[in-house]
Amino acid sequence: MSGSRFSFLLSVFMVFGSPAWAEDYLVSTPKTSLLISAEKGKKCYFQYYGPRVEKAADIFVSGNALWGNSYPTFGLSEGTEHALAVTFADGSLSVDLCVESVKQYATSDGSVTQVNLVDSVCPIAVSQYFKSYNGTDVMATWTEISNTGRKPFVVTEMASAALPLRRADNWISHLSGAWAAEHLLQEERLTNGQKIVSNLDGVRNTATANPSVMITLDGQPREEAGCVVGASLAWSGNYRLKSVATQGNLTLFAGINPTASAYQLQPKETFCTPELVFTYSTEGKGGVSRAFHRWARRYALHNGEAPRDVLLNSWEGVYFGVNQEIMDRMMKDFAAIGGELFVMDDGWFGEKYPRHNDMTSLGDWEVCKEKLPQGIEGLLASAKQHHVKFGIWIEPEMANTRSELFEKHPEWVLSQQGRQLTTGRGGTQVVLDLTNPKVQDFVFGVVDRLMTSYPDIAYIKWDANACVMNYASPHLPAQKQSHLNIAYHQGLRSVLERIRQKYPHVVMQACASGGGRVNYGLLPYFDEFWTSDNTDAYQRIFMQWGVSSFFPAAAMASHVSAGRNHQTERSVPLKFRFDVAMSGRLGMEMQPKDLNESELDFARRAIAAYKEVRPVVQQGDLYRLISPYDKQGFASLMYATTDKSRAVLFVYKMEHLYNMNYPTVRLSGVDENKVYRLRDLTPRDAARPSGFDGKEVSGRVLKYVGLSLASVFWGEYASLALELTEVR
Ligand code: DGJ
Repeated sequence: MSGSRFSFLLSVFMVFGSPAWAEDYLVSTPKTSLLISAEKGKKCYFQYYGPRVEKAADIFVSGNALWGNSYPTFGLSEGTEHALAVTFADGSLSVDLCVESVKQYATSDGSVTQVNLVDSVCPIAVSQYFKSYNGTDVMATWTEISNTGRKPFVVTEMASAALPLRRADNWISHLSGAWAAEHLLQEERLTNGQKIVSNLDGVRNTATANPSVMITLDGQPREEAGCVVGASLAWSGNYRLKSVATQGNLTLFAGINPTASAYQLQPKETFCTPELVFTYSTEGKGGVSRAFHRWARRYALHNGEAPRDVLLNSWEGVYFGVNQEIMDRMMKDFAAIGGELFVMDDGWFGEKYPRHNDMTSLGDWEVCKEKLPQGIEGLLASAKQHHVKFGIWIEPEMANTRSELFEKHPEWVLSQQGRQLTTGRGGTQVVLDLTNPKVQDFVFGVVDRLMTSYPDIAYIKWDANACVMNYASPHLPAQKQSHLNIAYHQGLRSVLERIRQKYPHVVMQACASGGGRVNYGLLPYFDEFWTSDNTDAYQRIFMQWGVSSFFPAAAMASHVSAGRNHQTERSVPLKFRFDVAMSGRLGMEMQPKDLNESELDFARRAIAAYKEVRPVVQQGDLYRLISPYDKQGFASLMYATTDKSRAVLFVYKMEHLYNMNYPTVRLSGVDENKVYRLRDLTPRDAARPSGFDGKEVSGRVLKYVGLSLASVFWGEYASLALELTEVR
């Protein structure tokens, strides 16, 4: 079908939402296109995904069509890996899906092509969706699986997508790690066989891996060159991303992890799989990240385009030692250096069992009067007096066996009848059964009670520090026990929907033992995530680099902590700690009273500078310049506004050796036709900024020649935060 006829029909369908009769469907974004063929009575084929094309014919004429089944099912004809597997009531396992109809329509945020597939023998129908998000280069795909018969059947595999990619010298980039060392970038060549990125935690799904990958189509991953597909599963529960490479073929299967997740579908019931969001870049990994970041800020991160406050979180400053005087002093000290928001972390609650450590009180969300005799009111009064906003920590999906909640509702906790409870943190932590609507009401109530009692609460840190340790739901019937892993997250999402409907403005952070919940399943409800419990600035450079592959700086909480780091015991200069934290959503995680006068002066200047460049860092385009993983002794990245009139450069010295090589950092994010004035944002001594300060340099030199680091990087843990402003 010709481009113009296609566009004409598309606009007709957008208006009337009527079924199309064309066979080839081209779904496009400004820079990318996806082509599917869906002819009635035949399989639906996924034929192309890559740089934008204006007409389907170009793909066929150039010999680029892939002809991959768009949703391969178990049982008939394919003999390959599959996206969907079902056991029907009569015990049969085969599914064969053919196109029944196609619809194309517009939504408030994009354009959708819906392919309706049916099995002519078995009572199953699948609608497969392809959506392009308006004004971005990100698309999404997902399915709805329906039982059209009279008896229940069991879905045993339910991937959101099977994305065929061009087999070549393909490399995969993904994130892997552990508690306090999350999101470390891994890159490897895909050899024939399967590469699986998965999670089975049940609650926190990103501590050890992340449901996001990049796959190159032309060799080793590069930052600003090469063709790369990026994909991320928008799901907060267990997942499995499986790239299957054979001689000549490569397919990325992505979806809910089918382990212990057989889902019984009742007659007329429909199961909706999570969105797999994906993008294609001809500008390497950098292009993928920028596309995800732009899309996220606009569509997938709560209040993504709003500026984020500079905050102080109490955890590493006082741990459980919360009380009115200490909180008041922290607010006062933080306000004095320009802080905007204070967050009281763990330790403020529990009447019968005061929360002095991690062994008691989760579930009892009443103020601990022993510690806070003036209640939350006292803290809000302090916040008002010191002109900072106030936030509070909760962990509402959990209980301790030593809590009033557990005493009252032991049946609200995931547990198997007759089996002793396995407990987590503190030897007493258990997970609430979010499949139970009463528990959902309770969890909603935790936020609702806080917010109705204290409407001035501006921020909630929502923590989750356990996995599903007792796989059994006291609420679900026997035949639905295997729904737990999925139903938990459906329950969580419905709670979050309710919270966001009633409280769209309260800022919420997703925290889960640090960086356990960095995913696009939750970010539509959360303004940010806690990147890691490890606040060591040096190690953070690696973790933040990894996270930045898929998630924007506005959401990446990054805090300046104590001089001698509590996790690694490494001591790094305050400037280095600030320069690292300023490359994300800046905050602090320490006792400000421990800083001496000159440190306080530095902190005040750094916070003021951050506020000035906040729009560039939080809303700008990211360019990663020197990777810490490349072990060149330095790491560097920059943010630039879309028009490249302003930018912020960060450089960190990662090694300290005599006569080491000092690389030149080339600033790929500047406009070569502009001239920029440089400003040192965080000079150690205000009167002695770096030699770059105040100078003017052409974009052409910055981009192709670069800044030589030798002159400013003599000390150990030296760093630089430089603002670039267009002068002409
Ligand atoms: C784990 C979080 O990641 C920390 O930041 C802190 O909030 C503790 N929980 C509190 O128990």
